[in-house]
Amino acid sequence: MGFTPTHTPIHDHDAELDKAEAGAAKLAATRDDRWYPKFHIASNGGWINDPNGLCRYHGRWHVFYQLHPYGTQWGPMHWGHVSSADMVTWRREPIAMAPSLAQERDGVFSGSAAIGDDGKLRFYYTGHQVLDADAGAGYAREVQMLATAQNNDATRLVKQGMIIDCPRDEVDSDFRDPKVWKTGDTWYMTFGVSSARRRGQMWLYTSHDMVEWTFDRILFEHPDPDVFMLECPDFFPIIGPDGNEKWVIGFSAMGSKPCGFMNRNTSNAGYMIGSWRPGEAFQPESEFRLWDCGHNFYAPQSFTAPDGRQIMIGWMSPFAEAAPMQDDGWCGQLTLPREITLGADGDLHTSPVAELSKLRDGTTDLGALDLRSEENRVIMDDAEAVEIELTLDLSRSTAERMGLKIHATDDGSYSYVNYDDQLGRIVIDRQTAAHGGRGYRTAPLSNAELASGRVDLRIFVDRGSIEVYVNGGRQVLTSYSYPSERRRAIKLTSESGTTHIDMLRIHPLRSIGLE
Ligand code: FRU
Repeated sequence: MGFTPTHTPIHDHDAELDKAEAGAAKLAATRDDRWYPKFHIASNGGWINDPNGLCRYHGRWHVFYQLHPYGTQWGPMHWGHVSSADMVTWRREPIAMAPSLAQERDGVFSGSAAIGDDGKLRFYYTGHQVLDADAGAGYAREVQMLATAQNNDATRLVKQGMIIDCPRDEVDSDFRDPKVWKTGDTWYMTFGVSSARRRGQMWLYTSHDMVEWTFDRILFEHPDPDVFMLECPDFFPIIGPDGNEKWVIGFSAMGSKPCGFMNRNTSNAGYMIGSWRPGEAFQPESEFRLWDCGHNFYAPQSFTAPDGRQIMIGWMSPFAEAAPMQDDGWCGQLTLPREITLGADGDLHTSPVAELSKLRDGTTDLGALDLRSEENRVIMDDAEAVEIELTLDLSRSTAERMGLKIHATDDGSYSYVNYDDQLGRIVIDRQTAAHGGRGYRTAPLSNAELASGRVDLRIFVDRGSIEVYVNGGRQVLTSYSYPSERRRAIKLTSESGTTHIDMLRIHPLRSIGLE
């Protein structure tokens, strides 16, 4: 007799899905699109957070995400769904999961997808039950759940029930976000745990049938005693240019304190590179590095595409800052899909998947340019959705800061993306932003990058956000930026010195089809 998941319905799932669909549609009906993305995934209405269940199945890419369809705040979690044939344009699919079993009464939390050797698509996710909201350590019960796709479009998911219960005497409530993969002929699952001593851990389970799981070991415990939970863990092998395999452990750490330029956000998503073999714990060989140095990046998930690429999508989290989109009927968007590669410099690089060049709707090539000290030159007077490629020639520039004022409006507000020659870093500064959170974030340049005398920037400007890819994705910064008016300019800027630009290309971008 095989193992049978615990399946205890408390609601009619189809009826809950219909209600959720109506909830999101009601918010969408009055949505204000001043900051609603043209080329980033968002819900038609309501709140979203983490990407979930990323996969390619029967010729389509699937992105699910944490969704609260009844408001623009976080609330009882559902799974929203979009799909795409080409990773360029997307189709909105019906909401995929709503809470309907006893174990997930208060939310279908984050999880991932795995396609079995039988070709069937399975989803592993966390069921969340609030026991006593005021109880501190024992406030919730979290367990791992299984659902299967009933059709090739993955638009009908069938819940199988609970597959891993929580050993509550060893855990401080948090026990969630499963990631599943196969190594050799064994299936593995890891998820994030806050131990009874409140240490951030990743636990490892194994299975031979993808249904019955056995505890194997603690895969990783975060060395920082302040870190009490590792949300949305990720774990995958990657081959470097030397042909050697490394393992990458990724997690969204709760509790780490800011230190210098590091960990400036409420919780911080990053990775360590190291090695792993079945039957062992992960051995880190690098320090913790951020996936993205911007204000708004969290809970990324990656998956291995059939062509071997490791593709990651993150959530632009509005943690701890004003999120004025909440007044507009929606809140939250996902980043562009990024390909993760291991560079010759021994670090991971993340740059937009190659498919995204198809979003370009023409190109204006401004060639090489020189800016005088204190010059502000308008290069677009109304940029709603645009990609800018720019090479700064540091060796022929004297400016202290040089870059782009984005979302620049007549009232004098803008967000400032620049190279700061005193810091030797790329900066996104929102001191002069019209709405939302302020503050600045920076990304480092290595000594070799600085010595090259050039910096390549690839900047994606959407209606309410900015993504900056530095030197082919060696660093990335992602931040919300909410302009005050619908007409928003982009200006080249050279501060306290001159700037030489080697190359400047502007590509207006098409809509991905979800507006
Ligand atoms: C991360 C997270 C996950 C959890 C989900 C709930 O943002 O807290 O750990 O599964 O969001 O929405």
